[in-house]
Amino acid sequence: MARVITYGTFDLFHEGHYRLLQRAKALGDYLIVGVTTEAYDKARGKLNVVDSLVTRIENVKKTGFADEIIIEETQGQKVNDIRRFHIDIFAIGSDWTGAFDYLKDYCQVIYLERTKNISSTMLREQNSPIQRIGIIGTGRIAERFIPEARLVSGVNTQGVYNPHLESAARFAQKWEINAYKEIEAFYEASDVIYIASPHETHFGYIQSALAHGKHVLCEKPMVLEKHQADELFGYAKQHNLILLEGIKTAYCPGFHKLLGIACSGTIGAIRNVEACFTKLENPRRRELTDTRYGGSFTELGSYVMLPILKLLGKEYTSIRFDTINDENGLDIFTKISLEYPSGIATATCGLGVKSDGRLLIAGTKGYIVAEAPWWKTAYFEVHYEDIDKTEKYSETFLGDGLRYEISDFLSMINGSSNSEFKLTRGESIALSEIMETFLQEKRGYRNR
Ligand code: CTP
Repeated sequence: MARVITYGTFDLFHEGHYRLLQRAKALGDYLIVGVTTEAYDKARGKLNVVDSLVTRIENVKKTGFADEIIIEETQGQKVNDIRRFHIDIFAIGSDWTGAFDYLKDYCQVIYLERTKNISSTMLREQNSPIQRIGIIGTGRIAERFIPEARLVSGVNTQGVYNPHLESAARFAQKWEINAYKEIEAFYEASDVIYIASPHETHFGYIQSALAHGKHVLCEKPMVLEKHQADELFGYAKQHNLILLEGIKTAYCPGFHKLLGIACSGTIGAIRNVEACFTKLENPRRRELTDTRYGGSFTELGSYVMLPILKLLGKEYTSIRFDTINDENGLDIFTKISLEYPSGIATATCGLGVKSDGRLLIAGTKGYIVAEAPWWKTAYFEVHYEDIDKTEKYSETFLGDGLRYEISDFLSMINGSSNSEFKLTRGESIALSEIMETFLQEKRGYRNR
């Protein structure tokens, strides 16, 4: 009896999948089909899968070709499956020709000709038209955004707006996109807007983009005053528009896994969260020269506050800022201490003082630790009183990580999944309130 195995995502099940399974089954007597999990797809950079794992399994089952369905969760699983299930033939579509030759040491490898003119990617694009992204701002983060957006299927970065046409033109030439000086023409050519301009301009740009009926992804800190966040989220909700604050950590799979474990009760009740992120910055850069809106907290505060708000919530009973300022009164190191009814937290960030950037979550039964760069979460450990029980977790973090937030933003626009829970409106509003408190206390900043 010949045993055959094949693997796939089988998203938006189509004729190509059906024909592949039919031919794979015909190769032997017993067919095992491995269906990928969402986490595995994300880890290998396949970001916009529409159907849930359950639906994809159901669709494979309905064909009647699979004698057994298994789940593919990790890289390297195929060799183990082949041994475990005593497989004779590994079959896969011809788009993978050569990629699985290494399995020839374990079984026969057959590449089946791919059905022409059909793919999940094609169907995803037909179901949801490509979203044309317009970028406002031409700084370093905008530079990082473009290559990441190119990895997300379903979006196309069409152009950039900057009131300084020269900067827009230079940026547009480099990335082969359009440059706009006139904002109306820019909105006309864009479906969604990514805002990467200086912090203090975010509010005005978000307001105008929403008023033009555009969905908005805005870099952190989204706004610097609570009433601004209230107003913008209220407007977006009323007009069915997506407004998302781009704190990349919130959307990355490793951070997500860490939060899940922290909240699972395995370390007991969470009593203390400490988050630190320092990055020595060139003193001539905007972050250290803009005495009004620059400094450590406006730059890095969103990252260090994120795990605290996610784990201990927004209802803190007290908040205190301790800062070290430079000669211009700009904070080069800031420590935020928060008290909660049943816990405490500290968030530390610095552009001019280097420290041990780590995330520590202490509970009544154990603690979780993630070392720098925990904000690009790829690895963390769970420790208990009994040191032999230490658990180690890793997760892929690809590239600059912006692809995850872009992908979630797109899924929310298309209505295929709701990732709002990863960074809620309430959490973004709380962050804006903390920014406002900091700027008022430390800088005597007043905007109104
Ligand atoms: N397949 C095929 N013919 C097609 C599409 C897919 O034979 N037109 C095969 C693939 O080669 C693979 C299996 O079906 O062996 C599952 O492929 P999957 O990656 O899930 O489907 P795609 O349509 O290729 O998905 P995507 O566009 O997301 O890459």
